[in-house]
Amino acid sequence: MALTLGIETSCDETSVALVEDGRRVLSNVIHSQVELHKEFGGVVPELAARDHLERLPHLLDLALEGAGAKPDDIDLIAVTRGPGLAGCLLVGVGVGEGLAAAWSKPLTGVNHLWGHIYAAMLARPDLEPPLLGLVVSGAHSDLVRMPEHGRFDVIGRTRDDAAGEAFDKSARMLGLGYPGGPALDRLARTGDARRQPLPQPSLPSLEYSFSGLKTALLYRLRDLGDSVSEQDKADLAAAFERSVVESLLEKLDIALTEHPYREVVVSGGVAANTLLRKRAAEVVGDRARLTMPPLELCTDNAAMIAAAGFFTSPPRAEVPGGEVRAVEANPSLGWSS
Ligand code: KG4
Ligand code: ZN
Repeated sequence: MALTLGIETSCDETSVALVEDGRRVLSNVIHSQVELHKEFGGVVPELAARDHLERLPHLLDLALEGAGAKPDDIDLIAVTRGPGLAGCLLVGVGVGEGLAAAWSKPLTGVNHLWGHIYAAMLARPDLEPPLLGLVVSGAHSDLVRMPEHGRFDVIGRTRDDAAGEAFDKSARMLGLGYPGGPALDRLARTGDARRQPLPQPSLPSLEYSFSGLKTALLYRLRDLGDSVSEQDKADLAAAFERSVVESLLEKLDIALTEHPYREVVVSGGVAANTLLRKRAAEVVGDRARLTMPPLELCTDNAAMIAAAGFFTSPPRAEVPGGEVRAVEANPSLGWSS
């Protein structure tokens, strides 16, 4: 049995977790900074970094207590090294380095996006690569092939906004505030996309683009002006959500036809979206087995980082830049196209 301590501080969630053999979550303590950033309408990097630093020691205690573990029991420390907000990453990596030195434990740096894929392995302990992944988060909309542990080939990405970013910005236009994605999801449930149809972005190959759709929403709201009703807003939320979701799945469908893997993972914060969860199952159908992590493992958490660290740290796999000594200037290492 191997115990991995995971640390995640890349954006606005502080999280510490203990995971057994990369598959079994013993504890996964998450503190969301939503309340801290709410009044600013988005994440303030300086405040986020300071809050990570203040909360990590307590969260570490809670994670150890929740798992019934002592520092001595830990075999590996895994920390998110990127991509993310530089100051926030620095806090997590610094604390990870400190603990590794104090407890004489090996430390490994994890690409946050690997973590989102490995979240699916926590949800389904029998899941193994090869697999096709769609990682949809606040900063990424990536289609990725994972032929084996620790190898990720990006075959599709966004030209402009990520899906989560598009949800957040459109939610703001609709007066929903931060965090936008979940609020837009809730509003869309009371709307009808057919009453306010919006264009569905479509680029050649496996590329995404959501900025045109965002502009279409802006113009529609401008045209409606003061006469916009609450029902109009709900209908627009539903239409926006439908366009993003269908665009994401159109490319997943093509990718799956081109690369007929038997396992498909859809993960990242946007994978918490109600319509995406429903439609992904329909689009994948019986061509492959679809795994979408439960909501608490879709959004940022340290259990997924511990799992990714366990499966990708040497000697299990040779991961370029897998060892962490400091935050790397190029955090995309190990997530290549
Ligand atoms: O993976 P994540 O927690 O953080 C990043 O790595 O970026 O993803 C956060 C993103 C945000 O843009 C948030 O609005 C979006 O995921 N999100 C959602 C939903 N829940 C979170 N978007 C649409 N529907 C949701 N239910
Ligand atoms: Zn994330």
